[in-house]
Amino acid sequence: MPATLVTAAPAAADHAAGDNDFQRYYAEAGPDYAAWSPRFNMHFGYYRRGMNPFAREAMLEEMNRQVLLRLNVETQSPRILDMGCGLGATLRSIATNLPGARLHGITLVPWQVEQGRLLNARDNAAGNIELALGDYQNTGYPSASFDAVYAIESSCYAAGAKKSALLQEARRLLRPGGRIVVADGFLGPGKLRGPQAGIFRRLCDCWAIETFGQIGDFTTELARLGFDNIHVQRLQLRVTPSVLHVPWVTLRFLLTSAIRSTRKMTRARWNNVIAPLLMPFVSFPVGPVAYYLVSAARSRDA
Ligand SMILES: C[S@@+](CC[C@H](N)C(=O)[O-])C[C@H]1O[C@@H](n2cnc3c(N)ncnc32)[C@H](O)[C@@H]1O
Repeated sequence: MPATLVTAAPAAADHAAGDNDFQRYYAEAGPDYAAWSPRFNMHFGYYRRGMNPFAREAMLEEMNRQVLLRLNVETQSPRILDMGCGLGATLRSIATNLPGARLHGITLVPWQVEQGRLLNARDNAAGNIELALGDYQNTGYPSASFDAVYAIESSCYAAGAKKSALLQEARRLLRPGGRIVVADGFLGPGKLRGPQAGIFRRLCDCWAIETFGQIGDFTTELARLGFDNIHVQRLQLRVTPSVLHVPWVTLRFLLTSAIRSTRKMTRARWNNVIAPLLMPFVSFPVGPVAYYLVSAARSRDA
């Protein structure tokens, strides 16, 4: 492993905090995801019957596999875009399962591109995967140039409850019939009650999110933009086994970072510790936040 590669104690302190909450969050707290996933899967897992619920990384990889299944690619060498790719863990997983795929990832965070490229080279996937720095709402890729696009736990960062700018760009990038898959937390039916509204606001602030998507508004927007075959699956019970890892990973992270880390526990890093602990207070079954997998196809007529 090259010395510069992100490890359990990455050199993120060297990444200067940006001039807004989002850049500061990812500059300071982003590398702490190494404590969650050695392969840098920056998302929750998908549990299937028969899996070991203690094997977190296998559940995180299963989420990658479930997203790929729903992309329903029809050729051996599809062109696929990860909209909000983090360090590219999902792309590397797809490269293994679909070696002919031409894979692209885009992220707003410069060090994720650098470190993602090193990880791609380490896994001999560099030839198949291109990572780029940019905004998934305005990517600059040519229109109709992708067979499939997906966003795992990144759509929440797009503006508004409909995530319209992200969906408009996805529609522009997809060829007719091309598919989109989104896995993320959304506000479902029901209301935030009493203290839940304040907890939800704090949760969004911790993760530097304006607001989570609202699942009804999101799917209505998909239909308005000319997507069809819209399929919505609430995954709360599938993700719960990996969510249950949060307190243990948090405790271990705090103990090791208090003892070993030379990096200061900044506000952004504390926020990243606090946010997952707030989740249960606003999530299904006590609140309207839940984890959804949404898939759709760009209409062939639109
Ligand atoms: C929680 S991480 C998930 C990363 C990755 N999808 C995964 O599951 O490992 C959220 C990602 O969304 C990216 N992101 C958020 N807003 C973005 C935007 N406007 N354009 C591009 N990437 C964005 C962040 O840079 C980060 O890489």
